[in-house]
This record gives sequence, structure tokens and C-alpha cells, in this order.
Amino acid sequence: MLNETIKRIFGHIEGFRIFRAPGRVNLIGEHTDYHYGFVLPVSIDRYFYFCIKENNLNKFRIYSDNFKELYEFDFNSLKYNPEKLWINYLKGVINEIIKLKGKIPYFDALIYGDIPMGSGLSSSAAYEVAVAFGMNTYFNLGIDKKEIAKLSQRAENNFVGAPCGIMDQFIATFGKENTALFIDTLTLDFENVPFDLNKRNLKLVVVDTKIKHSIAGEGYSTRRREGEEALKILRKYLPINSLRDLNDETFKISQEFLPSPLKERVAHVYNENKRVVDFVNDIKRDNWESLPKYMLDSHLSLKYLYEVTCEELDFLVEKALEYGAFASRMTGGGFGGSTVNLVHQDTLDKWSDNISKSYREKFGFDPGILLLNISDGVREI
Ligand code: GLA
Repeated sequence: MLNETIKRIFGHIEGFRIFRAPGRVNLIGEHTDYHYGFVLPVSIDRYFYFCIKENNLNKFRIYSDNFKELYEFDFNSLKYNPEKLWINYLKGVINEIIKLKGKIPYFDALIYGDIPMGSGLSSSAAYEVAVAFGMNTYFNLGIDKKEIAKLSQRAENNFVGAPCGIMDQFIATFGKENTALFIDTLTLDFENVPFDLNKRNLKLVVVDTKIKHSIAGEGYSTRRREGEEALKILRKYLPINSLRDLNDETFKISQEFLPSPLKERVAHVYNENKRVVDFVNDIKRDNWESLPKYMLDSHLSLKYLYEVTCEELDFLVEKALEYGAFASRMTGGGFGGSTVNLVHQDTLDKWSDNISKSYREKFGFDPGILLLNISDGVREI
């Protein structure tokens, strides 16, 4: 399908190389990455594709198969385009690559993604990583994979303007089939933790609220600001560089003198980091019985302490468990977006019907339901 479109738009397919990067679902460790804490995401079998070929034309020609638009630009027009938002991720990546390696040759590219946009599955990180990895490989730039993840995050922070952490770009780069990635977002050390759902007769299911609260961007940056404010206060008294450095003792002290809501925000981050470590240890010990509780505790902490859930997310988690899911919680940034569910395979159809029906009755429209597999990170296909 991609080949046909390339041929139709650019006249031929010879010489095009195709790269793809996955979306992600975070199992646990939410709103911890920009506090340099721990996260445990998986990469999913929904992808962003980047097909590239050098063109010797003195301009980039980029066709978005999602938007059915061709966009051309050159190095003089490498600035943010408020009217064509989809091009900015690619421009942002080119911008970061130039900073590292100087100008690259002009090229033709087709881009396409089947990760639903705005549903909290990190389609934008997959986009950035596919493009960064693709350009790096195609032009032999010699940028290592950790730097691919980091420059993709910088493209999002500096060019697109979203102050995200490193989790999404990192998992899109390093994800592995049937494996969860335990990432220390301070050191960027990571560990592949085998997470074979088939063995447990479970399925990874994402339920999309289909809503994007208008406060989304603002809510996320407000949380980041609150974290920084809390850190500033704490650093006057405690020897820490980030909230991640709190230990039992310093955490207790923080709870005594921080005002609300900073105190609650810090409590979420502190406990969530612990939950990630416990979750990973229990998977390694093959002790899956404890996982649902960690996930529910995470959700409740995001609801009451970090305040990033919404009525629709809370409803979906409550119903998911009521209808017999093994585990459920919100995933991603929150304020809308999706829940992650581990559902027994033999109850899947009935469970999905029940969820859709009760969501429709309550909110008047259907949620999106996606059955997913844990897949590999970015690569050439
Ligand atoms: C978004 C950001 C991530 C992370 C999550 C919350 O997905 O892009 O960096 O902060 O929210 O865990």
C-alpha cells in the first residue's frame, strides 16, 4: 500500500527506503519521567512509517498519506508552520539533526501512521523517532540510538513546543517484542523485562475515551511547573537534585512542610517510582498476582494526588475491573486519552461489548477499543 502511494506521488519507488517506529502504552510509572524517575512502557504494533529517498531538487517534498497533502520546503523555510501542524515534527527533527551534523541532502518522503492521534499512544514520538532514525540510517550520519531518542524529544520540546519527558521517544527507539522496558529516565539505563501476556492468557487492550480535554497541554505544563516549584522549596532544606532523589526520610519531611497541592504532587511521584520498582521485581519473580493492585494504586494516585484523570478515564477503569479485567489504569499524560487493560483472552469479546455499551449509555458515544501486541522498536522494513 505504501509502495503504491509512493509511486503515485513521486512517480517511482526505486531507491526508497522504509522505516517504522511504534506507538507505546505505559504499564506503570506515569508523570515520573520529567522528574527523572522510573517508567515501564511497552511498544505496540501500531506504527508510524517514514519512506525516504534523496531527490537532488533543492527542496524537501513531503507527502502525508494521513492528511493527503504534499508539502514542499527548503532550508530557508525551516520554521514552525502554525497552519500545517503535521509538518512541524519532521521540521523539528531536521532542525535538531542540523545542530548535530550540519545540513543533510534534500529528499522526498512519504509519511503515514496507523496510531490513532490524540489518544495518548504517542503517535508524535513514533513520528519523530521514525524520521530521525530513517534520516540517520539513510544518510549514514552515525548518530547512536540514545541520541536518536534524545534529539526526537528535543524536536518535540523545542520546535513543536510540547514539554514532554523522554519516555515516549525512548520506548519508540528501544522497544522489544513481548518485553516491557524498565527505564531509569535520569541515567537512561534500561532493562528489558520479559512480559509475555500470551503465556498468561492475557491480552493488552487499550480503551480510548475519544476525548481530548482542551486543558490537555496546559494541564501537563502546569504539573511540570508545580514539580519544579516543589523542588525549589525542597532544595533549600534537602540535598536533592530532583524529586527522584527523595528517600523515605526526606519524603516524610517534604510532606510536613510543603503546601497543597505541591505536597500531593510530590507524594504521587515518590510512591509511583516505588510502584514501578515493585512491579518490575514482581514480574521477575513471576508474581503477577500483585500487578493489578499496583496499577489500580497508580490510577487512584493520578486521580486524587496528581489530578490528571477525568470522569471518562475513571469510569473506564471502574467498569473494566467490574467486568473482570485482570488489571486497568489510565495510561499516558491523562486529561482524556486512554486506559491500558490486561484482559483474560477468553472473556475478551464479552468484556469489550460490556465496556462499549456502558460507556455509550453514560456518555452518548462509543469508546475506541484496540487489541494490541507488544512489538519491536524502530527499524527499517
Ligand atoms: C506524555 C509525555 C511523557 C510522559 C507522560 C506521562 O506521554 O510525552 O513524557 O510524561 O505523558 O507519564
